[in-house]
Amino acid sequence: MEDAHSIRELVLEGKATPALVRDALNSIAPRARDAWVDRLLGLEEIPDDGPALPRGAVPYLPCAIDSVLRAIDLAGVTDTDLFVDVGSGVGRVTTIVHLLTGASTLGLEIQPQLVQAAHALSSRLGLSRVKTLEGDAHPGEGTVFFLYCPFSGDRLNTFLDELERLRRPVRLCCVDLPIPARPWLSLLAEDQDVTVFTSAP
Ligand SMILES: C[S@@+](CC[C@H](N)C(=O)[O-])C[C@H]1O[C@@H](n2cnc3c(N)ncnc32)[C@H](O)[C@@H]1O
Repeated sequence: MEDAHSIRELVLEGKATPALVRDALNSIAPRARDAWVDRLLGLEEIPDDGPALPRGAVPYLPCAIDSVLRAIDLAGVTDTDLFVDVGSGVGRVTTIVHLLTGASTLGLEIQPQLVQAAHALSSRLGLSRVKTLEGDAHPGEGTVFFLYCPFSGDRLNTFLDELERLRRPVRLCCVDLPIPARPWLSLLAEDQDVTVFTSAP
């Protein structure tokens, strides 16, 4: 079993390859993986939500790492992707996906204090390819979009309309989030709580 602190040292030295991080994570028992990732990233308590969280929106709650692993595998995320976490909290998913795959990652987050925490995390680890933008999430650049319940209902429908208007193929990974049927979305794969679609607008 790999110690999270020694992997963190390798990240800081720029020597942590995706294969090395994945092997280290795979060597940890599933029930201990979330705490291991938090030690690797130096994340402690879950921060409180602030007044910028829209009424009815889902508060910050980190996605379970095994669901993130399923999304990476089902969507086939590689180092050529730009992976976008829609409602990215403190940057836990963007950071670990970058370390596990080599993909560039982008977080979109509406709560300023969480965006600051995400900037601090990528700067502490020296990860220039992990970025976060503050504001209401709209799809723009990106090849893979990841949604762990940032919103539902009308707001989710608006996001899907905007995704369709991108007019280019993307993969959409949803964790615990039912997606309304759209003719341009095709099911690629699903496993437990994770569903991945491809778009063909
Ligand atoms: C369930 S949390 C998921 C956090 C992150 N994806 C993770 O798994 O660690 C949902 C996040 O979506 C954010 N959020 C909610 N509505 C949003 C919106 N309209 N635009 C951007 N972020 C939003 C919340 O502030 C919260 O951080």
